[in-house]
Amino acid sequence: MTDGKITAESIRAMKARGEKVAALTAYDFPMARLLDQAGIPLILVGDSLGMVVLGYTDTTHVTMADMEHHVRAAARAKPQALLAADLPYQSYQTPALAVANAQRLVAAGAEAVKAEGGREILDQIRAIIAAGIPFLGHLGMLPQHVLEEGGYHIKGKTESEHQALLQDAMALTEAGAFAIVLELVTGPVAKEISQKISIPTIGIGSGQGCNGQILVTPDLLGMLPWYSLKHVKPRLNAADQMRTVVQEWKSGVETSKA
Ligand code: KIV
Repeated sequence: MTDGKITAESIRAMKARGEKVAALTAYDFPMARLLDQAGIPLILVGDSLGMVVLGYTDTTHVTMADMEHHVRAAARAKPQALLAADLPYQSYQTPALAVANAQRLVAAGAEAVKAEGGREILDQIRAIIAAGIPFLGHLGMLPQHVLEEGGYHIKGKTESEHQALLQDAMALTEAGAFAIVLELVTGPVAKEISQKISIPTIGIGSGQGCNGQILVTPDLLGMLPWYSLKHVKPRLNAADQMRTVVQEWKSGVETSKA
């Protein structure tokens, strides 16, 4: 770390010090700045932007151009936090494509990239890391596979899923990932993975046994009353508050005397 700037290495080192990683998503300048001012060490420009900003039904519609646009906006906040970005759907099918697209996200301002998958994308992960780009893993329920899988299902319930997750987490650690997001993994399996690998696990809907937690910020703030998720209880009812303020302002305008 220099001048308080948080790097991938700083995030990796938090585990050895027993520090938990509290990570959140941001898709634009004001949210990245606010999260940074609140001391969040890892900010992700997630491809969840497809659902929570762009209004798509899932993340498979998000393009590289969408990601670059939002990474540029978040990067203008110049956060002390590490700014990571998602490689979107079908943007990392080969090692060459993965490196080229990771470099595009870095050119837009990302300081690390994330892609979904384990050993099946190991060549791509190795190529990204060999190109000097810090890599954040993502195992468990993989939202970019939602259409093939027919929904968002909890992972690690069967012994074969449990073992596959463990092997994937070990392979990503060995390849040089600096941390791994575990999404919708059963609590006991997420805890076991967290105990067996040296890099931080950052859970979402995976219990308290992880080395940190990540949430989609609009879910935390109650900005999306259209969805209700088991793994997150909004801490604010921003949608209701915004509606009330807008209605009050509207009435004020409509009833004001010239
Ligand atoms: O896209 C995203 O925001 C993510 C987080 C849910 C981890 O991948």
